[in-house]
Amino acid sequence: MALTKELEQALNAQVTLELESAHQYLALSAWLECEGLPGMAHWMRMQSGEENEHAMKFFEFLIDRNASVKLGALPAPKTEFDSVIDVFRASLAAEQRVTAAINNIYAIAVEARDFASYPLLDWFVNEQVEEEATVQQIIDDLERTKGSGHALLMLDREMGARRQGDEG
Ligand code: FEO
Repeated sequence: MALTKELEQALNAQVTLELESAHQYLALSAWLECEGLPGMAHWMRMQSGEENEHAMKFFEFLIDRNASVKLGALPAPKTEFDSVIDVFRASLAAEQRVTAAINNIYAIAVEARDFASYPLLDWFVNEQVEEEATVQQIIDDLERTKGSGHALLMLDREMGARRQGDEG
């Protein structure tokens, strides 16, 4: 069964949005490197790689469904931040935007009775719960440091241990 035009467009837009997230996470990584927080910068680079993988999941699904892939332009990422916590709040806001986009695609797929797209979208619904929870936890941890350089350093070390496939 062919994708409806509306679903095809929404899935294509999601490829671009995931690539935009990858781009933004890379900018956040660069900012954290400049702040002397290599662990958090590493975490952001891992996250950027994960977003590229997300883009490819949608890309491959479009190919499998014999639909055309249309990549959109990427906006320049935000590069100015007031503080470390500001960086992670920007990350949470970006994840919430992605969650809303996934939910919207799901609604379109349900409307189109496109059952074949449900497993992919279910995976992303679960992934977004994880991603938002992980970033929220880091924000909570940062709030608890209350400006302590030592606590920030400990958190940086911990985040530097993230490996490929870890959920943050
Ligand atoms: Fe692919 Fe973090 O959303």
